[in-house]
Amino acid sequence: MKSHLEPDRELREDLTGQVVAYLADWYDRASEMEAWGIDLDPETLEELRQPPAEEGRDLESILSKLTVAGKAGIYHPSGGHMSYIPNAGMYTAALADFLATGLNRYSGVANAAPGFTAIEHGVIDWFISIFELGPDSAGLLMSGGSMANFTGIVTARTAVLGEHFTRGVLYVTPHTHHSAAKAARLAGFRSDQIVRVDVDDDLRMDVNRLSERIALDRVEGKRPLLVIASAGSTDTGTVDPLDEIADITSSEGLWLHIDAAYGGFFQLTERGKRALHGIERADSLSLDPHKGLSIPFGVGALLVRDEAALVDAHEGRGAYLRDEDSYMGLRDISSLGPELSRPSRGLSVWLPLQLHGVAPFRAALDSSLDLAEHAYRRLRTIDGIDARWAPDLSVVAFMFDNDELGRSAWAAVNADRTVHLSPTIIDDRFVLRFAILNRRSTVEHVDHAIDIIEKTLIG
Ligand SMILES: Cc1ncc(COP(=O)(O)O)c(C=O)c1O
Repeated sequence: MKSHLEPDRELREDLTGQVVAYLADWYDRASEMEAWGIDLDPETLEELRQPPAEEGRDLESILSKLTVAGKAGIYHPSGGHMSYIPNAGMYTAALADFLATGLNRYSGVANAAPGFTAIEHGVIDWFISIFELGPDSAGLLMSGGSMANFTGIVTARTAVLGEHFTRGVLYVTPHTHHSAAKAARLAGFRSDQIVRVDVDDDLRMDVNRLSERIALDRVEGKRPLLVIASAGSTDTGTVDPLDEIADITSSEGLWLHIDAAYGGFFQLTERGKRALHGIERADSLSLDPHKGLSIPFGVGALLVRDEAALVDAHEGRGAYLRDEDSYMGLRDISSLGPELSRPSRGLSVWLPLQLHGVAPFRAALDSSLDLAEHAYRRLRTIDGIDARWAPDLSVVAFMFDNDELGRSAWAAVNADRTVHLSPTIIDDRFVLRFAILNRRSTVEHVDHAIDIIEKTLIG
């Protein structure tokens, strides 16, 4: 009997054609599109939540629902999107995802799809080489930076303290991404085991304070375990003093986890490499291809200097699986992390890199650095703006002499819809930020937003 779930070739081509046409329109408009959309009304939201009917309907009407759903919120493909951490996405990576889910090969264990496993390990090998972590390193692609931080923390916990970690202490700063503290709690640490080390005037982890605090904790009989440093904080793009922190962690026998989810891929550029000096000393490193490489959401990465530590932390095997956890030297990806069944994430990074080469990715990152420098230089010239932090990477954070005026300037930029900005709070002060990581962002976008800010300040 013919199944509705098995469309014939003609229908498959028709359905695919409709989706491709739908996306073509979206991508044609990407460069010029506004940065964010209209709010949906409660009835529409309710309508979008309706359960499926017993009988299906045509794709055209389903796509029209998607159009309605897509109107609200931030338009990530827009070059004007400079809030939070942007990600423009990439058509060719979407094609890779289509292939990955279309082929539906199993990438949890290597013998189910050895070629796909090799592709994914190859992507990780390339990341390891960019950061020069050394020949014993390993890693895996995960759903994002939060999961990479979580898995890095679990690996550090197991490697340094084994199963007895109730006296362990982790060190972060007030600017460490909140996913690190969340991950630590999920990994079984109490909140009093997570110490926030003060930052200096440039918002970098104060290494003297770090040393003092480690010494104090040892005197109190605690077990300092792990420092989580930022290679580009989300709030301000600040890079902690990685080399100095690595000196401390290596002399104290602590694990160094570096959260490079936002900033890591700037390592592909000369300027980024200088700013990230010391990153090569990480014991573990979180990366987000779905930030710095523009790969569509759902791809983060964890790299670990010592593969054995990663494997130890994730031991566990069902009797129904083969005894070996590798195939011709290719390790099962499931033995490196918490997931067994997982998408073939490797393809969405591998295909665009094979197709385009590395150069355009590097150029896009360089262009973000250029735009950040431009924004910073202009903001420095404006009366009423306190641009005290030179950008380490591509986030430009600045204050206003008057916070209320700052809030008005922010509202005016977003009301115009060409550019979308999101602020943060530092020491109770309102801080606005240009988060520049979208390859479609131009100097015109940046100048347009700064013109609006300037106008608001002049009154
Ligand atoms: C520095 C940093 N770390 C971790 C994360 C969390 O990453 P994800 O959203 O991919 O889980 C983010 C997200 O913006 C980030 O900027």
